[in-house]
Amino acid sequence: MGKKIFAALFVALSIVACNKEKFGMGDSVYVTSLPAGNCTVYDSSSLAFSYKIDGLSSQQSLDFFVGNSFFNQNWVEAPSSTIARDGLGPLYNAKSCAGCHFRDGRGMPTLNDGLLIRLGIFDAYGNHVPEPIYGGQFQDKAISTAQPEGNVTIVYTEVMGTYPDGTTYSLRVPTYSLGNLNYGAIDPGVMTSPRVGPQMIGLGLLERVPEYMILLNADENDSDGDGISGRPNYVFDPVAGKELIGRFGWKANTASIAAQVAGAFNGDLGIKTHIFPNENQTAAQSVLNGLPDGGVIEISEADFNKVVLYSSALGVPNRRYLNSPAVQKGEKLFSEIGCAKCHNISFKTGNDGDISGLKNVHIRPYTDLLLHDMGSGLADNRPDGLASGTEWKTPPLWGIGLIETVNGHTYLLHDGRARNLEEAILWHGGEAEVIKERFKALTAEERSWVLAFLRSL
Ligand code: HEC
Ligand code: HEC
Repeated sequence: MGKKIFAALFVALSIVACNKEKFGMGDSVYVTSLPAGNCTVYDSSSLAFSYKIDGLSSQQSLDFFVGNSFFNQNWVEAPSSTIARDGLGPLYNAKSCAGCHFRDGRGMPTLNDGLLIRLGIFDAYGNHVPEPIYGGQFQDKAISTAQPEGNVTIVYTEVMGTYPDGTTYSLRVPTYSLGNLNYGAIDPGVMTSPRVGPQMIGLGLLERVPEYMILLNADENDSDGDGISGRPNYVFDPVAGKELIGRFGWKANTASIAAQVAGAFNGDLGIKTHIFPNENQTAAQSVLNGLPDGGVIEISEADFNKVVLYSSALGVPNRRYLNSPAVQKGEKLFSEIGCAKCHNISFKTGNDGDISGLKNVHIRPYTDLLLHDMGSGLADNRPDGLASGTEWKTPPLWGIGLIETVNGHTYLLHDGRARNLEEAILWHGGEAEVIKERFKALTAEERSWVLAFLRSL
């Protein structure tokens, strides 16, 4: 009996690798097969995105589990007997973080499963500011005593394309429209940016990549003439109180996990924090003033910090099928045709912060964390920080092969318009146009190898 419990404990603990010596591999092999060093997770089930990393103190481990419960459980309308979790809304998009990051994974392109719409206009001085009535984000839900802002309709149009070898494909072009507007006419110049919730893995590692390492890959004026000119975003961070390099969000529009979490509580759930102590409503929505709330702030600073810790400490699943010839050939092609120019950068995290497991880790996130012009096809035409309406941050590809297992779907790209990996590649334009054309020029078998490689991530 005692032995059994010990064995079970051992299995649970050994899911996370502790050190590279254990594998007896050289550094380069180690980096290739382990996307996140000692923060790699050895589970490829539907829970693959939900493991905490090794290297949390015992207090941090307890905080992680409390953070997990705040992430997953629904918030409720005030007043309620569950005072620790009341204060939802009045306007909101979902009742819990997990509503858009189900199993810490990827949202789907519907308003009930992870898609939200950012809003903005240019003011008289040409500055990008929130829409005057509806604010910076459209909330399609509200508590029982209030009206939601309205609803969103998504219509897809199929557009056919052909590979040089004659194989045809079809991409769906989305059109978004806002309707049933309950707070008056929206500014005719409103710009919309639809985005799905990305998987939550490895975020603490990305936060700890030293800024200078990100800048080493920036090439704003394309001085090496390879057609790729990544550049960093810089955004005001409300937690640090200053401008910092952007890392999170589809346009690198947030600099820290804490800022992203505070923004999510405010904009997505309508939960007041010490960072954003006001509800997400504009002055034009004063009809919402005075509705019951969950207190001056609706989640304490201590509990908020646990959600930040949770969001920082989810590990990255290990790669699979490494011995498959298709995966190996696909990995080679991925570099040869130039995907790796944006997606294949490896980094080493720095030495700061109080989470020892996140320090000095060799990571292979398949992102440069930089902004790239991806062409008019993907453009949302809404700037975000320094990012233009055609620029997007290279998303990390680690874990991408497990989204289907974790979330039961294969929708990709910032708004989930791609129905699978192949369509995601075919949408690439702008700086990636030439590289996409090289992918299209591969034989059908070679293309399947590239996809096999992506599924192994
Ligand atoms: C309505 C859907 C929705 C809800 C609810 C939601 N998120 Fe998100 N989350 C998103 C979207 C969309 C993004 C990308 C944001 C962007 O591009 O600006 C995101 C991004 C993030 C990121 C950054 C991930 C990355 O790779 O850039 C973190 C961290 C995060 N969310 C945490 C949370 C937490 C914590 C909560 C609950 C307090 C939460 N989210 C609730 C949709 C949601
Ligand atoms: C110029 C930089 C660049 C190059 C080169 C590039 N990508 Fe991307 N990739 C991006 C950006 C930026 C996005 C996000 C675009 C969006 O969401 O609208 C993206 C998205 C993706 C996605 C979807 C990721 C997700 O999380 O939804 C996949 C898969 C992908 N790229 C694979 C590839 C492959 C394979 C190649 C080579 C054929 C390639 N990329 C070349 C920048 C690049």
